[in-house]
Amino acid sequence: MTTATHLDTPAADAAIVLPAVQATADTVFEPATRPTMYFIGVTTGKSSIMQVFPKWAKHLGLGAVAIRGLDCKWHDDPAVYRHVVKFIKDDPQSLGALVTTHKIDLLTACRDLFDELDPFAELLGEVSGIAKRGLPAASRAHSLLCGYAKDPITSGLSLEAFLPADHWKKTGGDTLILGAGGSSIALSCAMLDPKHGDNLPRRLFVTNRSPGRLHEIEAIHKKLHVSIPVEYIHTPRPEDNDRVLARLAPHSLVANATGLGKDAPGSPLTDAAEFPEHGLAWDFNYRGDLHFLVQARRQAAARHLHVEDGWVYFLHGWTRVMEEVFHIEIPARGPGFDALGQIAASTRTA
Ligand SMILES: NC(=O)c1ccc[n+]([C@@H]2O[C@H](COP(=O)([O-])OP(=O)(O)OC[C@H]3O[C@@H](n4cnc5c(N)ncnc54)[C@H](OP(=O)(O)O)[C@@H]3O)[C@@H](O)[C@H]2O)c1
Repeated sequence: MTTATHLDTPAADAAIVLPAVQATADTVFEPATRPTMYFIGVTTGKSSIMQVFPKWAKHLGLGAVAIRGLDCKWHDDPAVYRHVVKFIKDDPQSLGALVTTHKIDLLTACRDLFDELDPFAELLGEVSGIAKRGLPAASRAHSLLCGYAKDPITSGLSLEAFLPADHWKKTGGDTLILGAGGSSIALSCAMLDPKHGDNLPRRLFVTNRSPGRLHEIEAIHKKLHVSIPVEYIHTPRPEDNDRVLARLAPHSLVANATGLGKDAPGSPLTDAAEFPEHGLAWDFNYRGDLHFLVQARRQAAARHLHVEDGWVYFLHGWTRVMEEVFHIEIPARGPGFDALGQIAASTRTA
């Protein structure tokens, strides 16, 4: 007879999801008993990765690995971040982590705990991935702790997935990024990469609700020697974003990097905003009320818009960090990537 216990017990070589832990500076973390990847976030248990990870692990042949969420508070005490990173660093079977929300705060608090940072982590002052490398598995407690800022790579891959080839050169379209936080910086770095040659937007507009973030992104762009005109525009009200939108040429990209529509309800635009003809509307999120995408879809037929959510971004975000954590190669495009996308889609409820 098949019992519920049998159904609930994963095979010995299957990946498992361990219960999330609320991290404090005093939490006694359980040493991992199998190779374990952590998800450092705020409400990690709600993320789709908890359904997706065991299926991906099986498909990728990772064996009896585990994932565990470590929840920290928004802008937590630096001592909490240090406690979490020290635990991962010292625990042999804890292999690394994907970091969301705390990318800048965590690196600021823990910079001296990392043996290596990749060039984007140095440039942006943030880490979205933590992994160990350099020494054999038996001595992982003494291996090197590396920090990675993967968002410039993952946002670039996500854009490449829907932007037609040579789009900017062929159309002369602009880019408007609504919001000047970490993901806005990442996308702008990806778009302005010299590897694109002269296939660049004609102009880049970046808006933000508070002025401080605009100074930060401008300082980073200065280091990159950006070759196209960039305007940094303070937009405290949605009507201010509408006005910038109205300046865009046809075929422009409009990215919602504000988190509005997921982290808080609504959209950075008003319902009266008009998207550019043949434009591309991209929300970085894939769950929430996604009101920005609702607004774009209302105009999609009349204005010939391409409307894109953040699902592919989610897939790239996780797979690029899993590569580093588990020391495997995961395809970023083509049939191998599509298969991972299909597996993930099979778990999607929204
Ligand atoms: N699909 C994925 O895998 C993926 C990957 C990366 C990011 N994301 C999502 O993308 C969103 C942004 O991420 P992030 O890390 O860049 O967040 P962040 O650092 O918090 O940045 C958001 C920025 O948007 C600004 N903002 C908020 N409302 C605005 C408005 N009405 N007009 C103009 N600017 C406004 C904020 O300004 P203030 O300075 O005034 O607060 C803040 O600077 C998050 O929801 C995240 O979950 C998804």
